Amino acid sequence: MKNVNKTPIWFMRQAGRYLPEYRKIRSLNKNFLDLCLNPSLSAEISLQPIERFDLDFIILFSDILVIPFALGQDVSFMKNHGPLLPPISSIKELKYRNLKANINKISNVFETLRILNTNKKEKKLIGFCGGPFTVLNYMIEGGSSKDHKKIKTFVSHEKKKALELIKVLTEISIEYLKRQVDSGADYLQIFESWAGLLQNEDYENFIVKPNQEISSELKKYSTKIQIIHFPRGSKNNYNLFLENVLCDVISLDLNFPEEIISKVKKKEIVIQGNLDPLVLLKGGEKLEEKIVEVLEKFKNNNHIFNLSHGILPGTKIQNVEKLIQIVRNYDAAK
Ligand code: CP3
Repeated sequence: MKNVNKTPIWFMRQAGRYLPEYRKIRSLNKNFLDLCLNPSLSAEISLQPIERFDLDFIILFSDILVIPFALGQDVSFMKNHGPLLPPISSIKELKYRNLKANINKISNVFETLRILNTNKKEKKLIGFCGGPFTVLNYMIEGGSSKDHKKIKTFVSHEKKKALELIKVLTEISIEYLKRQVDSGADYLQIFESWAGLLQNEDYENFIVKPNQEISSELKKYSTKIQIIHFPRGSKNNYNLFLENVLCDVISLDLNFPEEIISKVKKKEIVIQGNLDPLVLLKGGEKLEEKIVEVLEKFKNNNHIFNLSHGILPGTKIQNVEKLIQIVRNYDAAK
C-alpha cells in the first residue's frame, strides 16, 4: 500500500433538497432568498452535508441570484418552477448606485462565511458567485429557460447593452468575492453554468474576458485564495478558457476535450469532476463502474472528486454514501 494523498470530495449543490435535514429547514422557510440571507440557518445548512458525509469542502449556502437582487432586480423562487425575475433589457432598469452600497444589501452572506470560518476545523471553505454571463442569462430570461432565446437574441442584436451589463456584473462579482475572501473563504468557485451557449468572439468577450478579469483581480487581492472555474458546456472552448483564464482548479463536465487532462497537469492545475449526477441518481452497478472510471481517468492528475453538474434533488443518501466509500477505498488501495 502506497501512502498517497487522498482524493478530496465534495459535490456541487451538496447542501440541498436531496437531504431530509435541508427539506425540514426549507419547509419552515418559504422564502428561499430570505433563507440565503439568514446567516445562522445558512451556516447550519452549509454544514449539513459535512456532518452527514464528512466531505472535505464546505460550500457556502447561498445562490448566484443574490447578485441581481443586490442590483435591485426582484428575485423570487417559486415551488417547482425555479427562480423568477422581472426580465430587464438594459442597465437603466437596475437600481445601480455604487458597488459598495449594492453589495451591502447582501452583506449577511459574509456573516454566514464568518460563522463557517470559525467552525470549519480542517475543512476548506468555498465561497462562490455566478459567472457574469450566467447571471446575465437569468436577468434577461427572467428565470430558467429551455431555448435561451432571449439571451441569445440580446447578445447578438444588443451587443453594446449586453457588454455594459457584463461590465457591471464583473465589477460587482469582483467586489463580492473580495469580501468573501475577507470573511474566510479559502476557495472561490465561479459557476459559469451557461458558458456553452456562446461561441467564437462572443465566447471570448462574454466568457473568457470577464472570468479572466475576476481571476486576476482576486489573485492580486489575495495570494492564498484558490480559484475554481466551471465554464460548463464549453466543449472545445475549454482549451481557449484554460489558455486565457487563471485557474487553480478547473471543474469539468462530461464533454471536455481529452487533451485537457495532460495540458492541465503541465500547468499544475487541479481537475475537479466529473461523475454524471444522473448516474449518481440511478445508482446500482453502473454507479460503481462510473466512479472507478472517473478515478482512473484522473489518476495521474491532482484531482478533486465531484460531479459534472449539481446533485439532483431525488438522489438517495445511500448512493452518496456508496460513492464516498468507493473513492476512499480506492485511495487506500493505491
Ligand atoms: O452547492 C451548494 O450546495 C451551495 C448552494 C448553491 C445553490 N445554488 C443553492 C440552491 C449554489 C452553489 C447554487 C448555484 C446556482 N444557483 C447555479 C449554478 C450551478 C448550476 O446548477 O448550474 C445556478 C444556475 C443557480 C440558480 C438557481 N437556484 C436555479 C436555476 C434554481 C432552481 C432550480 C434548482 O436547481 O433548484 C435555484 C434554487 C436553489 N439554489 C436551490 C438550492 C438548494 C433549491 C431551492 C429550494 O429549496 O427550493
